[in-house]
Amino acid sequence: MFGKRSETDLEMKGRALTPVQLANAAELAPEAASQVPVKTASEPKVEVEPETPSDDGARTAEYYSVKTTVFNALIDTIDLAQLSQVEKTVAREEIRDIVTEILSIKNVIMSISEQEELLEDICNDVLGYGPLEPLLARDDIADIMINGAHTSFIEVDGKMLKAGIQFSDNAQLMNICQRIVSQVGRRVDESSPICDARLPDGSRVNVIAPPLAIDGPCLTIRKFKKDKLTLAQLESFGSISPEGRVILEIIGKVRCNIVISGGTGSGKTTLLNCMTASIEQTERIVTCEDSAELQLQQPHVVRLETRPPNLEGEGEITMRDLVKNCLRMRPERIIVGEVRGPEAFDLLQAMNTGHDGSMGTLHSNSPREAIARLESMIMMGGFSLPSKTIREMIVGSVDIIIQASRMRDGTRKITHITEVIGMEGDVPTLQDLFVYEIKGEDEHGKIRGEHRSTGIARPKFWERAQYFNEQHRLAQALADAETGTGFSNRKEEASFV
Ligand SMILES: Nc1ncnc2c1ncn2[C@@H]1O[C@H](COP(=O)(O)OP(=O)(O)O)[C@@H](O)[C@H]1O
Ligand SMILES: [Mg+2]
Repeated sequence: MFGKRSETDLEMKGRALTPVQLANAAELAPEAASQVPVKTASEPKVEVEPETPSDDGARTAEYYSVKTTVFNALIDTIDLAQLSQVEKTVAREEIRDIVTEILSIKNVIMSISEQEELLEDICNDVLGYGPLEPLLARDDIADIMINGAHTSFIEVDGKMLKAGIQFSDNAQLMNICQRIVSQVGRRVDESSPICDARLPDGSRVNVIAPPLAIDGPCLTIRKFKKDKLTLAQLESFGSISPEGRVILEIIGKVRCNIVISGGTGSGKTTLLNCMTASIEQTERIVTCEDSAELQLQQPHVVRLETRPPNLEGEGEITMRDLVKNCLRMRPERIIVGEVRGPEAFDLLQAMNTGHDGSMGTLHSNSPREAIARLESMIMMGGFSLPSKTIREMIVGSVDIIIQASRMRDGTRKITHITEVIGMEGDVPTLQDLFVYEIKGEDEHGKIRGEHRSTGIARPKFWERAQYFNEQHRLAQALADAETGTGFSNRKEEASFV
């Protein structure tokens, strides 16, 4: 359908391509065999993903050479512009037909499976995101990290693995980055080398290009998980103990104001999503996010998303704009995906002014640091308030800080459930209700430890719990967690509370 070929014409240069198309295609075209890097002995030893065919080893220089030849013949034969207009499956079929024909005309000898691999590879280059495609298709990958054309990693089950893919060169990688960001109307090049974008499936993308990234374009993709984890799953993974889970459910239900603190990839957003499960079906919830990740199950949810500036640097809508606006939308709870800046002030105000049960995540390594982070975010927002006033505001607004951590063995744990209870002089006082205590490591390097309560029988939110008639369940969970071994012999005592 798109072919401009005749039986004898395949060797001829195509004429229907514009210079731009030709340039694009040339950038996408795999480089000649000499460019394929040879793995050196000094390369650091990292596990290589076993399932993906490893370009480092499995694919030979010959493969790349054949691919280059076929690719060049292909782009001379088809009209890429037309091809991009049609449905992917149809285009794929068309490319398959032409490639098969090219192979037979050029007398390339290949096994069926090699041929299949080549077809797949070429289709991905022409139609999709090239070597990224097989990684994007997998549901088990949490993050994809490309550090220049020849180094890529993925995170699977909390483990960092070397991904067995490769780009032919940085130009091909840059071209793919450009394709990704242009879908959301943005541009990435030397003059604007940093760019955030989103894939059609919701995955978050960050690109940082040379000259800022010294060894070639860096592309980081946080893959969108269709099925968000639940508290029950976190419990089954050992991220939280059964009693801890009950405490978290109660905290969510009785409308405590919650800050979820943790490092990058520690599971903050996941936990926030889990916490929203205890919100009543009747509540009006407004969520503010940089890119919509939360999946609330309640019927009455308004989802808001920030907007980056356009190419002319205009039209930006910040998180602060959203949070301020949502106060006028009669929300019952406000949920902020990630608090990074002066919107901290507005969120705290919301928490303080009748929007109990509001929640947000922020980047910090401990509950105490979370308080300091909130303070500095407010200070940086240019509010000329004395530090003590800001702290009082934080203490008056935030009830609970939940700390999420990614441990060194790759597992994620909820390490603290901490109450903000007041001020002593200038210093906010915190009280851990529930902690994860590391006991050591087993022979496989897995961390051993246990979740336990710290022995506090009457948390500050006790009255709230009573108001929602959750005090018995709360007392029971705290008592059971005290020994760290599940249902303890304090059970009877607890039931009299
Ligand atoms: N408790 C957990 N156990 C296993 N995987 C988890 C857990 N929490 C989060 N994850 C996974 O870790 C990745 C990062 O989680 P996310 O919540 O987006 O982190 P953050 O918001 O802190 O950057 C996701 O792929 C998520 O599915
Ligand atoms: Mg997050």
